[in-house]
Amino acid sequence: MKRALITGSSSGIGYAYAKYLSERGWYIDLVSQNIDRAEEAYKTLNYEHSKIHIHDLSSLDSITEITSNISTPDLVVANAGIGINGAAGRNINEDIEFANNLMFAGPIKLIEYYLPRMIEKKSGRVVIISSIGALIPMPKSAIYAAVKSGIYAYGRSLNEEIVEKNVSVTVSLPGYVKTNIHKRSGLAHLEKQIASWMWVTPQQVIEETESASIKGLSEVIPGRLYRLTSIFFNFKVTKMLWKFLNSRNKK
Ligand SMILES: NC(=O)c1ccc[n+]([C@@H]2O[C@H](COP(=O)([O-])OP(=O)(O)OC[C@H]3O[C@@H](n4cnc5c(N)ncnc54)[C@H](OP(=O)(O)O)[C@@H]3O)[C@@H](O)[C@H]2O)c1
Repeated sequence: MKRALITGSSSGIGYAYAKYLSERGWYIDLVSQNIDRAEEAYKTLNYEHSKIHIHDLSSLDSITEITSNISTPDLVVANAGIGINGAAGRNINEDIEFANNLMFAGPIKLIEYYLPRMIEKKSGRVVIISSIGALIPMPKSAIYAAVKSGIYAYGRSLNEEIVEKNVSVTVSLPGYVKTNIHKRSGLAHLEKQIASWMWVTPQQVIEETESASIKGLSEVIPGRLYRLTSIFFNFKVTKMLWKFLNSRNKK
């Protein structure tokens, strides 16, 4: 039985990933922080070949706890994350450290532990859920964009380095996905504000990400619309349009 470790498995993209793998007979280690949400998701998943692990991934010590309890999986999905909002010059140290640990340094520490073991086994895959925000400016979410860009740069560099060792690292760069993230980040207004054609489903993210990962690709942008428009992301008009469509009303 193939084994996967998914961070942020209690909801959204991580939960959909767990469901996808459960339907394909994988054993899954499910990592998230809130016990009630984890148990609720576990009940809904209703899959005996899985185990919940409760860790607050905003602390780097949690990674040491995970790696000392979970042996090297066949697939690591570094997914856990939350939106971080803050206008220029108003980003407080606590948010900076939190975002860094949860979505940049923590995933790196996790991957740096398992990767050499995958290379030794000559088999394994790593998937990093970054964001389209790694490719296009995100006004009032600069810290989020920064950690997502950083982890993107890390993952795609790694893949070039190791792909010939039968181990792959694939960075997924989703645009808007209907999950709990917007409500949890104080951006619930975006659920109404963002046009319906701009949303990608969690299932689509997983199918396209898994397909890219199995092919050993460094990166994937789920959704044809985002993929096609990404070539224009550096154009001034695209940035202006994106800023208009995404306007944040917090802080
Ligand atoms: N949805 C989008 O539009 C979108 C777009 C691009 C990228 N992404 C990325 O996709 C990833 C998944 O987000 P989602 O949209 O699926 O959001 P979500 O539905 O809110 O799920 C987030 C998951 O991350 C976990 N998590 C959050 N903080 C944690 C912490 N401190 N320790 C452990 N686990 C923690 C949550 O667990 P608890 O319930 O225990 O807190 C939950 O399982 C994130 O990295 C996000 O940046 C999302």
